[in-house]
Amino acid sequence: MSMPSMQAIVLAAGRSSRFKSGSTKQLAPICGQSMILYVLRILSSQNIPTTVVLSPESDDVRAAIEASGLSGITYATQHNPHGTGHAVSCTQELWEKDHVLILNGDAPLITSSLINTLYKKHTSSNIAISFLSSTVLDPHGYGRVMVEGERISIVEEQECTEEQRSIHTINAGIYLVERSYLSRTIDRLPTSPTTGETYITDLVGYAEQSKTHVVPYDYVRGVNTLDDLWAVEQIKRSDIIKHWLYQGVRFELPLTTHVDIGVTIGAGTVISGGVQLLGTTSIGTHCTIGPGSVLRDAQIADHVAIYSHTVIEQSSIGARSHIGPFVRLRDHVVVDEAVTIGNFVEIKKSHIGKGTKAKHLAYLGDAQIGSNVNIGAGTITCNHDGTKKHLTTIEDNAFVGSNNTLVAPVKIGKGAYTAAGSTITSEVPAGDLAIGRSRQVNKTGYADRLRAKKEEILPVEKPDTSQSEGTV
Ligand code: UD1
Ligand code: CA
Repeated sequence: MSMPSMQAIVLAAGRSSRFKSGSTKQLAPICGQSMILYVLRILSSQNIPTTVVLSPESDDVRAAIEASGLSGITYATQHNPHGTGHAVSCTQELWEKDHVLILNGDAPLITSSLINTLYKKHTSSNIAISFLSSTVLDPHGYGRVMVEGERISIVEEQECTEEQRSIHTINAGIYLVERSYLSRTIDRLPTSPTTGETYITDLVGYAEQSKTHVVPYDYVRGVNTLDDLWAVEQIKRSDIIKHWLYQGVRFELPLTTHVDIGVTIGAGTVISGGVQLLGTTSIGTHCTIGPGSVLRDAQIADHVAIYSHTVIEQSSIGARSHIGPFVRLRDHVVVDEAVTIGNFVEIKKSHIGKGTKAKHLAYLGDAQIGSNVNIGAGTITCNHDGTKKHLTTIEDNAFVGSNNTLVAPVKIGKGAYTAAGSTITSEVPAGDLAIGRSRQVNKTGYADRLRAKKEEILPVEKPDTSQSEGTV
C-alpha cells in the first residue's frame, strides 16, 4: 500500500536507564539484529521517509543504521534529551508531509499491516491524532489510556493516581498526527513537574478529536528492561522458527533452539536441540545439524551431516560432507564436497578438497589440502613460528600418517605418504614416502635388568606381621 502523505519519526535518543546494561538498548540484538533496525526496516519496506532522533552520544547507533544499507533515512539530534515531546520537537525543520507517524525505537515487533491500518483509519477520519493502544495484564511501565466520553488522554505511570495505575489499556507509543496540529501544539507541551520531561502523549489529551485503535499487545510490546528484551526476543525467535517449520524444516527441540533473522534453511533439514544458527548462516536441503552445534555466518550445502557440538564460524561446507562431533572450523575454512572432518578436529583458514578425510584429533591451520587426502589421527600443522603464519600444502591423494607434525612452510606432493609419528620439515616430493622420526632400537632384556637393579637399591618392604595384635 502506498502512503505518500506520510513521513515517520523514530525516537531513539533516550538514555536507556532502565536497561542498566551500560549501553543503549537501541543496539541490543534481537535474533541477530539491532532493535532499532526492526522498526526502520518496516518503514523502509513501505517507502516511508524516516527521521531518526538520536542523542549526541549515539554515533554507534547511527553507524549501525548506516551499515544496514537502509535508504531514505535522515537524522535529527536531540541535545540534552528531556522527554519524548522534546525529541519530536527537535525534528520540526524536517516536517513536510501532511501526516507524521511517530514511533518509539524500542518497539521492535510492529508490523507493516499495523501501520497500514493506522494510516487508512487516520486518513479517512479527518482527526488530529490517531494512536495505537492495547490491553495488557501487567500495564507496568506504560502510559495508561483514559477515555471519558469523546475525550481521550494518556497518563504516564509516574503521574498516575492509585486508581489510574490499575487501568489495563496502555499506550503503544505509535501515533499518526496531522502536521498542522503537530506544528501548532509541539512547543506548547507542558513539562512534567515529576520528571522534568515533556511527553509526546500530551498531544492526545490536547486534541479536540483523537482516536485510538486497539491492537494485539504482542505487536507493540516496548523494551525498557532486559526482562522486556527477553520477552520480545522469545516472540521473535518463535516466529522465526515457525516460519521455517512451514518451509519444511524440522526442529527436534524448538524451545532450546535459536535461529537469527538472517539465517536461511532448506527443506528437509533436521535441527536438533540446543543448536544456535547465527548471523548470515545458510543451510541447504536435507541436512542434519546435531545437538549443541553453533553455526555463525556458515554456508552449508545440501545433504550435509553436522554431528553434535560442532562450531563453525565464517566457513563453508560442501554437499554430502560429514562434520563432527566436537569439530571447530573458523576463519574462512572452505570444505569441498564429500569431506569427512571427524571427532575433535580444529581447522582454521584452510581449504579442504573433495573427498578428503581428517577423522580424529587434528589441527589444520593455513593449509591448502587437495582432494582425497587422508590426514592421520593426531596430525597438526605447525603454522605459527612465534611471529608469522606459514602455509602447509598437501596435494591430491596424499596420505599423512598418524600423529604427524607438519612444520610450515611445507609441502607434501601428490600421492606422497608420510610415516606415522613423523615431523615433516621439508618438502615431500610427489609419490615419495617420508619418514621423519628416529628409528626404533630394541635393547634386549634391558627392562628386566633395570627392574632388578631398582629392587636391589630399594628392597620391597614386606609387611611385618610378628607384632600384630591377634584378634580373638
Ligand atoms: C513511552 C510513552 C508511554 C507508552 C510507552 C510505549 C511517553 C512520555 N510515554 O513511555 O505512554 O506507553 O512509550 O512503549 O512518551 N526518547 C527520546 N528522547 C527522550 C526520551 C525518550 O528519543 O528524551 C526515545 C527513547 O529512546 C525510546 C522512546 O523515545 O525509544 C520512548 O522512550 P521511553 O523512555 O522508553 O518511554 P516509555 O517510558 O516507554
Ligand atoms: Ca519504552
